Amino acid sequence: MANTFTAAAQGLPDETTLAAVIGSPIAHSLSPTLLNAAFAAAGLTWHYTAVEVAPGEAEQALNDMRSTGLGGLSVTMPHKTAVANAVDRCTETATLLNAVNCVAPQGQELVGHNTDGEGFLGGLAHDANFTVAGCRAVVLGAGGAARAVVLALAQAGANSVTVINRTAEKAQETAQLAGPIGHTGDHQSLATADLIVNATSVGMHGGPPGMPCDPTLLHPGQVAIDLIYHPLVTPWMAALKKQDIEAHNGVSMLLFQAARAFNLWTNQPAPIEAMENAVTAALEARSHTAQ
Ligand SMILES: NC(=O)c1ccc[n+]([C@@H]2O[C@H](COP(=O)([O-])OP(=O)(O)OC[C@H]3O[C@@H](n4cnc5c(N)ncnc54)[C@H](OP(=O)(O)O)[C@@H]3O)[C@@H](O)[C@H]2O)c1
Repeated sequence: MANTFTAAAQGLPDETTLAAVIGSPIAHSLSPTLLNAAFAAAGLTWHYTAVEVAPGEAEQALNDMRSTGLGGLSVTMPHKTAVANAVDRCTETATLLNAVNCVAPQGQELVGHNTDGEGFLGGLAHDANFTVAGCRAVVLGAGGAARAVVLALAQAGANSVTVINRTAEKAQETAQLAGPIGHTGDHQSLATADLIVNATSVGMHGGPPGMPCDPTLLHPGQVAIDLIYHPLVTPWMAALKKQDIEAHNGVSMLLFQAARAFNLWTNQPAPIEAMENAVTAALEARSHTAQ
């Protein structure tokens, strides 16, 4: 595979520091929108590009990163586990999740991070000003996103984290990430929760239609987060809002996990407002064309 991770290969001046996201499919990734807005707002000569990397070729992409001195790498489906196994070292969180979504060079080493959990907590604070410490949380779903959220909630001091999932064994495995405060449950657990997170793909554009749970099982005073950001308002969120329940989408999680990547790569605080404006504009344009 030709090395696409050079400024010259991207048609950019040599002094540009390149960062990239790898995945398959990658064409609709919002990461270039977020990170290029951040680099521009911070006045950095960095550029972020999306590179289609076929399943099984992530290790080669990491080798290319080593040889070209890429400034940073984001990793999305289907490469998160392969990259966790191919980096020199993973953070504790990425090790527990066995998934890396961000690689940052540190000296001679490539370090694998998972910024989804930090992204979720950052988004929750930004959107809902919610205090996780001591809360009772229910997470619907047990896939990659759910695992990051469950671990983050436990690390942030939740009182209990209950996982509800279609496939029971996966619910069990995911709940274990929260240690002694992690449980599996059923929809009856929803009534007593302070925070309910939809981490299933139900309601996502192009995903399974419908709602992840019956919205009438929730009540005002609770906070609901749907990790989906396309569409911006899912049928579940719309139904909750009709019942006067506070409900937010997944845009802020996306924003804050990218902000953490920016911070890891550049050692600078991320320009959140510029990133938020860029991603909001892109998502609004996308919702009009329903891509
Ligand atoms: N905002 C963000 O930054 C962000 C980041 C990551 C993901 N997400 C969103 O989070 C969602 C999950 O992503 P993921 O990467 O975790 O996906 P994933 O690993 O494929 O997990 C999908 C989850 O959805 C459940 N599910 C799928 N179809 C279902 C159905 N018809 N009925 C009930 N449950 C169903 C699966 O249950 P089973 O285990 O039974 O199959 C599983 O728990 C997606 O909508 C994605 O867009 C958002």
